[in-house]
Amino acid sequence: MPIRVTLLAERDIPGAVAAIQEAFADDPYNNWVFDKTRFDPQRNAVSLSIRCEWGMRNGIFHVAKEEGSDEVLGVACWLRPQRAGQPSTWHDWFESWRLWLNQVGMNLWYGRGGLNVKRYWVWKAAQSNVQSAVWTDPLGYYFLNIMVVVPKAQGRGIGRQMMKAVTDEADTKNTKCYLESSRDVPNIQIYETLGFRFTKELECDDHGTAIKLFASEYSQNYPPGTMDTVRSKSPL
Ligand SMILES: CC(C)(COP(=O)(O)OP(=O)(O)OC[C@H]1O[C@@H](n2cnc3c(N)ncnc32)[C@H](O)[C@@H]1OP(=O)(O)O)[C@@H](O)C(=O)NCCC(=O)NCCS
Repeated sequence: MPIRVTLLAERDIPGAVAAIQEAFADDPYNNWVFDKTRFDPQRNAVSLSIRCEWGMRNGIFHVAKEEGSDEVLGVACWLRPQRAGQPSTWHDWFESWRLWLNQVGMNLWYGRGGLNVKRYWVWKAAQSNVQSAVWTDPLGYYFLNIMVVVPKAQGRGIGRQMMKAVTDEADTKNTKCYLESSRDVPNIQIYETLGFRFTKELECDDHGTAIKLFASEYSQNYPPGTMDTVRSKSPL
């Protein structure tokens, strides 16, 4: 059956949340930032639903399904590019407070659900450092915040189709794209096949218990390269 990529609708949210939880069940970042003995899947589902609602209003949130089926097989959430020096709007301000209040409500109701708050902030700081170093294009970057395909549907071209839905838009605006992956193998290679170049590692170190994330960039002007070529040119 052909795959259709559409904007996330309210009724897709439970399926999108389930797909994200399944695809990230053994993700290195999740394993580092959550204490798995105290992990609360219900709290995590509420947190992801809040993120979906926010993404529907503020980002580009896609789901992939087979034609004629309601089952969510893939999810991709992008943040739109922000031009250098572009001031935040009242809408952005209102939306960030709305997100924060929803998260506070969730934390009061469910607690932290195993989230290691200190590690969360270690990650945020590493992310901010790397983005300040590599986001040099004044047009800004489409930022791929979430990209998953459920395990049973991986390797069938769904990731490529979801990626193309936004890289095509980026091409028309001559704008770059950016992502961070919590696995180097096989993701760096997959993303290179999709036109990205590995750019920089994010080291998240909590007193010796560390993980690495891998930042990559896309531009229609980059020719597809091999991992070795890209690594040898990377400003690590
Ligand atoms: C990464 C992910 C989104 C890719 O989606 P996908 O639907 O499996 O990818 P596709 O089938 O569209 O493949 C895209 C390209 O990568 C290649 N590829 C796929 N799996 C690969 C693998 N394990 N190793 C090397 N290349 C691979 C494919 O051949 C394809 O290239 P082609 O079209 O030239 O043949 C998906 O595997 C996934 O959800 N992984 C787990 C969660 C995750 O790590 N998400 C990323 C967080 S940033």
